Amino acid sequence: MKHIFQEGRNGRTLLLLHGTGGNENDLLPLTDMIDPDANVLSVRGNVNENGMPRFFRRIAEGVFDEEDLIKRTKELYDFLEDKSKEYNFNRDEVYSVGYSNGANIAGSLLYHYQDSLKGAMLFHPMVPRRGIHLPNHEDVSVFIGAGQNDPICPADEAEELKSMLENSGATVELFWTNLGHQLTREEVEAAKEWYQGLS
Ligand code: MLT
Repeated sequence: MKHIFQEGRNGRTLLLLHGTGGNENDLLPLTDMIDPDANVLSVRGNVNENGMPRFFRRIAEGVFDEEDLIKRTKELYDFLEDKSKEYNFNRDEVYSVGYSNGANIAGSLLYHYQDSLKGAMLFHPMVPRRGIHLPNHEDVSVFIGAGQNDPICPADEAEELKSMLENSGATVELFWTNLGHQLTREEVEAAKEWYQGLS
């Protein structure tokens, strides 16, 4: 997958996953706010929707192509395994920073694989799939940033995602703004505080 890797010095890796129509450059400015000492692995989604990069196909707005979601989730999981060897970073210390479609593929990693992420910052996520049993996530911490007036990622999905992840053992913080789908400085600040409070 097309990506950028920047070597850090504290043993942690931030995995950046952009929103629909974005690319691997979009979320780079967040790393200085969240953890300037971490490695950065920023990935571009392999799916092209009318010129817009995404991490998996969708059938319509908010309706995911489940078969493709599963395939692309495995592709990202395998990519992380490979790159941790190639760039020599600790696979057990990967924290995702994903927005919208990027948050959804990160959520899907957690829905399908144990030990896929140590922590996840999910900005404006949806529930990636329903009707499956999640792996155990006892040691996983998740931050969800959501907007009460988000027309794309409805508020009740953020609540549903939180409870699904909590039922799998994860510790989840849900942070609300009363805004819409945009990524706000306020929620990134809140994610930073959450991240810095992790042991
Ligand atoms: C998705 O397709 O992942 C969600 O609808 C969010 C987005 O528009 O990217």
